[in-house]
Amino acid sequence: MRTLMKAVSMRARQRLLRLRAIGTGEFVALGIAAVVLVVGPASVFAYGRWMDRNVLVVHAQQWQYAPNVLHATAGVPFRIRLESEDVVHGFRIIGLDAQVTELIPGKSVELTVVAPKPGTYVYMCTTYCGLKHARMFGRLIVAPR
Ligand code: CUA
Repeated sequence: MRTLMKAVSMRARQRLLRLRAIGTGEFVALGIAAVVLVVGPASVFAYGRWMDRNVLVVHAQQWQYAPNVLHATAGVPFRIRLESEDVVHGFRIIGLDAQVTELIPGKSVELTVVAPKPGTYVYMCTTYCGLKHARMFGRLIVAPR
């Protein structure tokens, strides 16, 4: 009778241990789910807001950009929002992956730009926009991080 009682209680203890093991697994799963569901979107949201604050607005008009000097930090992505005030212009930063071939009046265009190295980059109009098209340029000054 005693051995039977012992066997029963052993089985109960084993069951309890198994339940506890499931509890720990669920706790870990919940933790992972919390990280994925909360921290992930929150960091994406924070990055989006940070990028929104990092928008440089550049107006294009015959035959200049305003401002014609932009500042950035090496390795830090930023955005340029281009707007044309009159005719179709273009935009290109020489040496960087940043180009717009048709900047149409009334339609703003946004680019995300990263300058990997510090230095001075030239941006220029790439679409013929009239007499002084070739003189339409500006400078992007990139400071070290
Ligand atoms: Cu502006 Cu060409």
